[in-house]
Amino acid sequence: MTADTTTVAPPATASGPLETALWAAYARVYDNLLHLTGYRRLLDAVADVAAVDTGHHVVEVGCGTGNVLQRLARHRPATLLGIDGSGPMLTRARRKLRRGPVPTQLRQDDVVAGLAALPAGSVDRLVAVNVLYALHDRDAFWREARRVLRPTGSVVVSHTDRPGSWPLITEHVHAVGPRALAHVGLVAVALVDALIDTAARSGTWEFCDYPTLSEEAGRHGFAAEYRGRCYGGDVEGVNFLACYRPR
Ligand SMILES: C[S@@+](CC[C@H](N)C(=O)[O-])C[C@H]1O[C@@H](n2cnc3c(N)ncnc32)[C@H](O)[C@@H]1O
Repeated sequence: MTADTTTVAPPATASGPLETALWAAYARVYDNLLHLTGYRRLLDAVADVAAVDTGHHVVEVGCGTGNVLQRLARHRPATLLGIDGSGPMLTRARRKLRRGPVPTQLRQDDVVAGLAALPAGSVDRLVAVNVLYALHDRDAFWREARRVLRPTGSVVVSHTDRPGSWPLITEHVHAVGPRALAHVGLVAVALVDALIDTAARSGTWEFCDYPTLSEEAGRHGFAAEYRGRCYGGDVEGVNFLACYRPR
């Protein structure tokens, strides 16, 4: 089974040059996260909350290198569509998803513009894992999400109230011991994280907590359901997993 990979030119609302460079750098090291128990737990938890059924139309925005799509494909949805603004991220996703088992379309586009191109009421599951902080207009995201979802559909969101993968890495070090830090790939992830931290501090991105995100979603007709945390150890906040259904 091959991934159908349509590429369209990123529109004006897509990431600026700094963000484009950041995501390109992250693409080179991103899959090192697969070594981390917290990230693997996250993939499983997202699949649990999404509860994808045979025949579902599933869209992941900010699909990156395709790890979430690959995990969701095990549930045999009818179609999978991944939207991401980063060419280097999608190159990796394309390689990974080429072998199926579900036909997967990958589209290079801005999240909001990519959703705007979909027909109303056509999506059963909309998945957004660790990407909403990077959107410049989250209201536009929620508006489009509400439009494309079927009445029985849901938006599954993993989000974090602070930048970087550091909570994931420290949790892993607690579990595995300091030798975990000797992993070259994880050091590279930590370096890219430092850049992401800078983007957050400069106000380019906004990391928000569960009540804030849910209030935004509520303004667009979504009821929120908190589904716990996937990583972050004993630290309050950090990651949260939530499901948003049309009211
Ligand atoms: C931290 S990665 C998450 C990847 C994937 N969801 C996962 O959890 O493995 C965030 C992804 O969102 C994409 N992204 C960020 N802002 C975007 C935007 N406005 N439009 C499209 N993609 C965007 C980036 O290119 C990157 O691949």
